[in-house]
Amino acid sequence: MRDMLCDTASSLFVRNLRVVRNGKALLNVSRLSLDGPGPTLILGPNGAGKSLLLRCLHGLIEPDQGRVEQDGTPLTDRHKAQQAMVFQQPVLLRRSVAANLDFVLKRQGLPRGARKLRIESLLAEGGLEGKARQPARSLSGGEAQRLAILRALALDPETLFLDEPTSALDPNATQMIERMILRASSRGVRIVMVTHDIGQARRLAADIVMMQGGHVVEHGLAKQVLNAPQSDAARRYLAGGLVT
Ligand SMILES: Nc1ncnc2c1ncn2[C@@H]1O[C@H](COP(=O)(O)OP(=O)(O)O)[C@@H](O)[C@H]1O
Ligand SMILES: [Mg+2]
Repeated sequence: MRDMLCDTASSLFVRNLRVVRNGKALLNVSRLSLDGPGPTLILGPNGAGKSLLLRCLHGLIEPDQGRVEQDGTPLTDRHKAQQAMVFQQPVLLRRSVAANLDFVLKRQGLPRGARKLRIESLLAEGGLEGKARQPARSLSGGEAQRLAILRALALDPETLFLDEPTSALDPNATQMIERMILRASSRGVRIVMVTHDIGQARRLAADIVMMQGGHVVEHGLAKQVLNAPQSDAARRYLAGGLVT
């Protein structure tokens, strides 16, 4: 494994992480340091352990061994509160678009007037102006995913994890979401995103974590990993071959 990036104060660090089910190690990452400004893209074939790694980073899964650290300490509830996650299939409340955002803002204790303004700016950010009153569950796939991202951004997260957020979407909807992600990144939100789409990694990534069989087989700057992969597994994956 190559790790081209050095540790800094606000980093995510994975140490000897193992997730075992039925006696089989599904995830086995001895060391991974995510410290860049990002975006970090986690790339690899189906079943590589990408989602498991993301869930461990977000503290949704307790590993059987090892740990995730942020800023040099094991992940705490305070860290987790500064993270948000978006899944492949958005789970939206059976309420209007605006109410889905209001729900999150209310929980943060924002007063009504401030919530209204924030909802307006979020809707504009997601290109959902004019959809405020529409039932969230009647949105198109792309719109629903944009709302899910807005809801995550409404938390003002330090880190935003996204698990294949565009894999069910067409190229146009995908492009809108990629732009939202890049804008969030340029505003300073740390993006850690799973994809199996090499083109998407090329468009978005500052650094790439390449996974296979529960292992990180390579980690480095995007250009290096994409143009001059060091591992056979990464070379085969990028060449479009089958990785087994
Ligand atoms: N709760 C579980 N019990 C058993 N096997 C699991 C569980 N969760 C994930 N797996 C297995 O772990 C492997 C990695 O899964 P996952 O992280 O979802 O892969 P990816 O996101 O890269 O497609 C897969 O083989 C999957 O079937
Ligand atoms: Mg997955």
